[in-house]
Amino acid sequence: MKILVTGGGGFIGSHLVEALLARGHRVTVLDDFSTGHAENLRPFGRKVALVRGDCADEAAARKACRGVSAVFHLAAMPSVPRSVKDPLLSHRTNATATLTMLVAARDAGARRFVYAGSSAVYGDLPTLPKREDMPTRPLSPYGLGKLAGEHYVRLFASLYGMETLTLRYFNVFGPRQDPGSPYSGVISLFVTALLEGRRPVIYGDGRQTRDFTYVANVVDANLRALTAKGLRGQTLNVATGKRISLLDLHREVSRELGVERSPVHRAARQGDIKHSQAAIGAARRLLGYRPIVSFRDGIRRTTDWYRASAPITRQN
Ligand code: UD1
Repeated sequence: MKILVTGGGGFIGSHLVEALLARGHRVTVLDDFSTGHAENLRPFGRKVALVRGDCADEAAARKACRGVSAVFHLAAMPSVPRSVKDPLLSHRTNATATLTMLVAARDAGARRFVYAGSSAVYGDLPTLPKREDMPTRPLSPYGLGKLAGEHYVRLFASLYGMETLTLRYFNVFGPRQDPGSPYSGVISLFVTALLEGRRPVIYGDGRQTRDFTYVANVVDANLRALTAKGLRGQTLNVATGKRISLLDLHREVSRELGVERSPVHRAARQGDIKHSQAAIGAARRLLGYRPIVSFRDGIRRTTDWYRASAPITRQN
């Protein structure tokens, strides 16, 4: 099958590209490398057809969709604080880009469209675990943009008969997650801080919790979505069903690295959600999804990767 992965140069996207190639698919990537990196695609060489461009740009979207039968739309500006700073950019890259890709996919005859949604759409509703049929109340432009995308994904199934699906990711982590910006995922920041002899920063009291999900689980859910029957715009959580506090995360990463360095506390971030934990029964029912790598094994694989690949000066 010829498959398009938008954001294929990113952290999660590049893992998905790798898995699709390993299964013999032909893969096109659409990426402007605004948050991803061309180096993430280098190991695949000419096996990947690259279209450099922005998913909100109609011409780029149409070019990338040519001849493909399925689209995985992962490209996004995936940071909550960055979206609070720049809501227009967030809307363009998260909402407008999704609509543009849906239109291009529809017109190219790509029937299947799998969208990377986010648990940020739930906001601070107190009930845990979060189930897909619960109300949504995003606290950030990021969460709102991701939710707008979900609605379009659902509409394109009912209006145009496409086989569409939203996978709501919960705090994905693993090798290749870029720790290079203050907006980066917390696990990449903790691991690199501890390896480089710095103290990790915790925003707030550290009692906030997340359903940290190792990237292989998310890739597995996407692969299942490629062949699953009955896709009609549904939304499914993809996570582990557990939650871990930032204080426990710090302890776990420190233990794995054999480093002791207490965190620095700073004021809680605007738009930050207090608790996040998924119910994953719906993904099990529709996709047969179950987490294949636990949090602890994921942390081990991730710390091993950063240890082996990051250019680090250890000051232990
Ligand atoms: C993350 C994702 C977002 C995804 C969402 C799904 C990233 C960058 N963001 O948002 O794309 O849609 O999960 O749930 O991957 N924190 C610290 N210290 C730090 C950095 C963060 O204490 O140095 C805290 C944050 O305040 C937050 C928690 O760690 O409470 C997680 O933050 P972050 O990794 O940025 O992810 P989310 O905002 O949950």
